[in-house]
Amino acid sequence: MLDSELVKDFLFETNALCAHIIDKNGIVRFMNKTYLEVLGKKEEEVIGRHIGDITPETRSLSVIRTGKAVIGYYWPVNGYNMIASSVPLFQKGELKGCFSYSVFMDIWDAHNLIDNLMQQLNMYRDEVHSVHSSRYTFEDIIGQADNILEMKSLARKAALHPSITVLLMGESGTGKELFAHAIHSGSNRKKMPFIRVNCAAIPENLLEAELFGYEEGSFTGARKGGSTGKFELAHGGTIFLDEIGEMSPAMQSKLLVFLQEKEFERLGSHRPVRVNVRVIAATNRDLEEMIKQQKFREDLYYRLNVLCLKIPPLRERIEDLPLLVKHLMRAINKELKTKVNKMSAEAMDLLSKYHWPGNIRELQNVLQRAILLADLDSCCSITKEHLYFMKIESEKNTLAPTGTLKELLRDYEKQILAQVLKRTNYNKTRTADILDMDLSWLYKKIKQYGLAPDNSRRQKRKTVEPIT
Ligand SMILES: Nc1ncnc2c1ncn2[C@@H]1O[C@H](COP(=O)(O)OP(=O)(O)O)[C@@H](O)[C@H]1O
Ligand SMILES: [Mg+2]
Repeated sequence: MLDSELVKDFLFETNALCAHIIDKNGIVRFMNKTYLEVLGKKEEEVIGRHIGDITPETRSLSVIRTGKAVIGYYWPVNGYNMIASSVPLFQKGELKGCFSYSVFMDIWDAHNLIDNLMQQLNMYRDEVHSVHSSRYTFEDIIGQADNILEMKSLARKAALHPSITVLLMGESGTGKELFAHAIHSGSNRKKMPFIRVNCAAIPENLLEAELFGYEEGSFTGARKGGSTGKFELAHGGTIFLDEIGEMSPAMQSKLLVFLQEKEFERLGSHRPVRVNVRVIAATNRDLEEMIKQQKFREDLYYRLNVLCLKIPPLRERIEDLPLLVKHLMRAINKELKTKVNKMSAEAMDLLSKYHWPGNIRELQNVLQRAILLADLDSCCSITKEHLYFMKIESEKNTLAPTGTLKELLRDYEKQILAQVLKRTNYNKTRTADILDMDLSWLYKKIKQYGLAPDNSRRQKRKTVEPIT
């Protein structure tokens, strides 16, 4: 039979682990050499003393209180990092004391492992930051029109409150994403990630995993080791949920829960994860209309709509066109390495009369095409000829020619008048100006084609705009 003294000797002498035994009153009865060295004590200084006086954070006292083992806890002491376990000692069913032992994490090279992992983590963190940092600031939002200045000033306020949710509404291409970037970079979260999720581009069944992450094996096709969701990646920073109006009702509910609790669970896990992120959502849809049609949750709308910025379309701030053209041309020339840096008055005029359904994104595309064409002509100025494709594109929308020339011209005239009137909010003087026609002629045409706004509208306008 193996002598138990042998084990005791081994325990006392070994430097592979620290060990000590306390009795049921917490008094130290045994402590091995290695642990004595770690604590910097002599045997006579510890034996017979209460363990709470030697290591006040000890878990062994809870073991003698509860009779339950505590296995594998982190035990830092005197600069050493150890993994410890404390087990109760029973004799004939009666609790006699507690045996605790710990191994140095360095023994497993855990230190090096952790260092390596930390280095990798930092590398990925930097990478996340470089890929996911915001690229634009408020300086990049060009515009002096009142409506855009008002939105910029609201957005600046939003930046100062780094936890409030922001909802950006506006047609496509108006600069919603630009605003989201600017709000992030103007806030104290700017050094942390800015993560964009396009809710419309991710298939509905994958969006949850994309946003919240998942554990290994939680669904077929799940990656080994699981995956971190965008909310976790954005921790400390901002998440930009673009095209929120396209989110399915099921995901809307999950997002609502997150906004309320600031907590979520990865797919296939029941461990809640808490993150600190600012949510900025954007949509080009009319969410209030969607609520009426029961396609968007009203409660989610109110959660998102803490601060709502309505980004105006380009046609409602057409006075900014020259500024925008200048800014965009400079950027495009830089990118294409071209030197087309002027625009003829005629070309500018053409652009200012267009209604820009695609807003600034469309303007960018138009300028890009025109710059390329001008460059091919070795011309440093965009002229009307370089914008010929705009005419073609607007012609595409006109009716196929059926009827006599007179009828067609009449239809065309009516169509143009209706468009410009609508664009100017039925301001007749401006309409006549834009189309370079006589005001009295315009009145005649409005009557002839029945282009007056409907009565309710006229009533409303009368109250704000006294007739002079
Ligand atoms: N006020 C602005 N000043 C300068 N560039 C702008 C402005 N608004 C939008 N842009 C540019 O127009 C393009 C479309 O903007 P984006 O923010 O993607 O629009 P949205 O998200 O509303 O569709 C981007 O390249 C953006 O940089
Ligand atoms: Mg967008």
